[in-house]
Amino acid sequence: MIQLQNIEKVYRTSTVETLALNNVNLTVEKGEFLSIMGPSGCGKSTLLNIMGLLDAPSKGDVKIGNESTTQLSDKQMAHFRNKKLGFIFQSYHLINDLKVLDNVELPLLYRTSSARERTQLAKAALEKVGLSNRMKHFPTQLSGGQKQRVAIARAIVGEPEIILADEPTGNLDSAMGNEIMEILLQLNNTEKTTIVMVTHDENMARKTHRLVRLFDGTQVS
Ligand SMILES: Nc1ncnc2c1ncn2[C@@H]1O[C@H](COP(=O)(O)OP(=O)(O)OP(=O)(O)O)[C@@H](O)[C@H]1O
Ligand SMILES: [Mg+2]
Repeated sequence: MIQLQNIEKVYRTSTVETLALNNVNLTVEKGEFLSIMGPSGCGKSTLLNIMGLLDAPSKGDVKIGNESTTQLSDKQMAHFRNKKLGFIFQSYHLINDLKVLDNVELPLLYRTSSARERTQLAKAALEKVGLSNRMKHFPTQLSGGQKQRVAIARAIVGEPEIILADEPTGNLDSAMGNEIMEILLQLNNTEKTTIVMVTHDENMARKTHRLVRLFDGTQVS
């Protein structure tokens, strides 16, 4: 499903050069739930962003569903992202001026679906995460766990083949974290969505199919 080949990422500023990823080779199978762990600064978010085509590697190739992505233009890349990928960020990235329902509809705006269809799909996604009763709220009127559930609804509304989640439970207490984890496990189980999740929590990682550990930009297990 996702294939990373000899991925290297160097961040350059005028004064320093950081090797954030060093020759990473990783294949994520279709339907797999993979977790990524490692100390702060070891390159987890960088790796996830490269997998999600949000950032380009300095070297190496990213293949998604057997298609190489190196040749894609920015526009093709954005289209690909919108169609195949769903993102969940640690800090939610919701738009505070938009109601919950409108936040969830956002990824569909770039598609041809009608307004009515968009609303239906967004409502269905919110139902899946148990937030049907908060559709008219604004993000600032929600708890952290609820915001994360809105973010999940937004990630799944377009029925992506792959979900990339960067510490989706990082800001939540353990009860709320477990709830979010259950939603992800169920998506993986019932819809066979491929999931890659960065986490600091061994207990969460243990519930997934496979764990990859990074250290200083290198895959160590
Ligand atoms: N835009 C950037 N410019 C320069 N250096 C960067 C940039 N983004 C990340 N880095 C560096 O790359 C390395 C990897 O960063 P990354 O955000 O991937 O770490 P992480 O494993 O996700 O850490 P955390 O657990 O704290 O989120 C770090 O040393 C960081 O300082
Ligand atoms: Mg990170």
